[in-house]
Amino acid sequence: MTARDAEDTSKVSAWRSLVRLRAFLVPHWRAIGLALVLMTAEAAIDLLKPWPLKLTLDVILKRDALAGSTLSLLVAISLLIVALAVFEGLFAYLAALQLNRAGRTLVFELRSALFDHIHRLSLQFHNRRSTGDVMTRVTSDVNNLREALTESVAEIVKNVLFLVGMGAVLFWLDWRLSLILLAATPILCLAMIRYGARVKERSRVERRREGALAAVVHETLGTIRLIRVFNREEEARRRFRAESTASLESGLAATMTGERFSWMVDVLGDVVTALVLAFGVQRVMKGAITAGTLVVFVSYIRSFYKSLKGAVKHAARVAKAAAPVERIVELLDVGEGVNDLPGAVQARRARGLIEFQNVSFAYEPQHPVLNEINLVVPAGRLTAIVGRTGSGKSTLTSLIPRLYDPTSGRVLIDGEDVRGWTLRSLRAQISVVLQESVLLQASVAENIAYGRTDATFEEIERAARAANAHDFIAAMSEGYDTVLGERGETLSGGQRQRIAIARAIVRNAPIVILDEPLTGLDTTAAAAVVEALNHLMEDKTVIVITHHLSTVRRADHIVVLSGGRIVQQGRHDELVGADGMYRELFQAQFSDVMVSVSK
Ligand SMILES: Nc1ncnc2c1ncn2[C@@H]1O[C@H](COP(=O)(O)OP(=O)(O)O)[C@@H](O)[C@H]1O
Ligand SMILES: [Mg+2]
Repeated sequence: MTARDAEDTSKVSAWRSLVRLRAFLVPHWRAIGLALVLMTAEAAIDLLKPWPLKLTLDVILKRDALAGSTLSLLVAISLLIVALAVFEGLFAYLAALQLNRAGRTLVFELRSALFDHIHRLSLQFHNRRSTGDVMTRVTSDVNNLREALTESVAEIVKNVLFLVGMGAVLFWLDWRLSLILLAATPILCLAMIRYGARVKERSRVERRREGALAAVVHETLGTIRLIRVFNREEEARRRFRAESTASLESGLAATMTGERFSWMVDVLGDVVTALVLAFGVQRVMKGAITAGTLVVFVSYIRSFYKSLKGAVKHAARVAKAAAPVERIVELLDVGEGVNDLPGAVQARRARGLIEFQNVSFAYEPQHPVLNEINLVVPAGRLTAIVGRTGSGKSTLTSLIPRLYDPTSGRVLIDGEDVRGWTLRSLRAQISVVLQESVLLQASVAENIAYGRTDATFEEIERAARAANAHDFIAAMSEGYDTVLGERGETLSGGQRQRIAIARAIVRNAPIVILDEPLTGLDTTAAAAVVEALNHLMEDKTVIVITHHLSTVRRADHIVVLSGGRIVQQGRHDELVGADGMYRELFQAQFSDVMVSVSK
């Protein structure tokens, strides 16, 4: 679905979105109801505002002297003016309080729900979606919704209540004069519909531009090293400028369309005021209405246009918020995900026998990555997986902690389907070390304890020693308290791997998955990491993806993958003697054929 299509369907589904979000709205019905009552009161006070003037003109100015009851009436009118102002402000304040409290709480809840939801979504979803896009949904889209809910919807309701009340009062005062106002309304409605559509279109373009801008910023920040080393700053800047300019232009266009509309309504309002004044004076002279009534009319007409303008402006804002709401709902509606099945149980500590039974898997339908894999990984042993890049090695191992679920077939641990266990307890059985270990922007100790949050400092240090990492950590400026850079860039590749291994050691899970932990390291660094791995692998079921010969050679079992199928299995001696993929790899790819690393 293209962005264009998504937007075309959005009109139809704006209501559906609100219905979808009702679970978030319903708990706040009391506050919303109270706000409605308060806003009705506010509108009623607004309606009363020209009346003191009418009373003054029609009653007080008709008397000859300002004494006795006339004086009391004038005092009463003056007090009324003040009282109206005080109460209008009070009601407005209370309504805003209710709406904001409800709106902000709602947004808080919605945002939390989105965040939780994102963490439940499948990795396929996250691979497909740009991070920037998901990020704006959780942050700015939710904010737009809040603004629409707490400000715009309130303004619209208030203005509509006021308009309806005013229409009723005007017709009651003098229906003939009201007809002038009524006659101008269709013109106004036409203009509103036309301009409204245009404002909406412009705003949509604006939003799309902003999304593109956010994506560029996110992408360039994510690849800033690459940009530096390839000298692409200029290009990045150009792209940013281009997007930024486009965003500026579309934003300006949207604003100016709104302003032109507002100007037109102003002029139209003054034309109607002039007309009402002209006819009204005649009616006053004929004695059909009083001067005070004419004053009420003129003052209402001014408010009429102000309210109308306010309502339209905020309706445009609500329309603008409709797209973000869509996007939020769309995200909430993505159902795919690897989740606990109903009835999933806590796994006990596994012995570590892993079986793949007829496992097939595809990231995208039509593009199978794994085909009918049948494999037994013995408990407590070292199993190596070898194969060319893209043969499906990483994918195969990612099915064990259920990063993905197989398209068909089953993955078993100790004879039980992994889907029968809760994700938490399943993943607690597994430690993973990848080629590019991700370190957090946190202290070394916290990075290691990420493997098991309740690890004591002694355990952290013991793990670091076992991972061959203690010495270089101790040599750092603040030892275990040294804060690492965002991507751990202050460390060398080998050091990062050793911290990741310490993290896995501290986790002490019965199953260990190593996905090319040595790739990219020079022989000295690799030797230090191999030594660290030896400690991690003790008494564990280990699956290692590697082309590091001495590691492969040690393996109790070697699996050769090609094109998502297992083409050979066995021990090194058997495989190297046979014709086939393994021998090819042995000759061409194994990285340390020339180097001997002690076992
Ligand atoms: N996240 C993904 N989305 C779509 N396709 C993927 C994804 N990850 C890997 N693939 C594809 O799946 C195949 C196997 O990839 P992978 O398991 O990473 O292979 P290996 O680890 O053996 O190099 C490749 O064709 C790769 O392009
Ligand atoms: Mg891989």
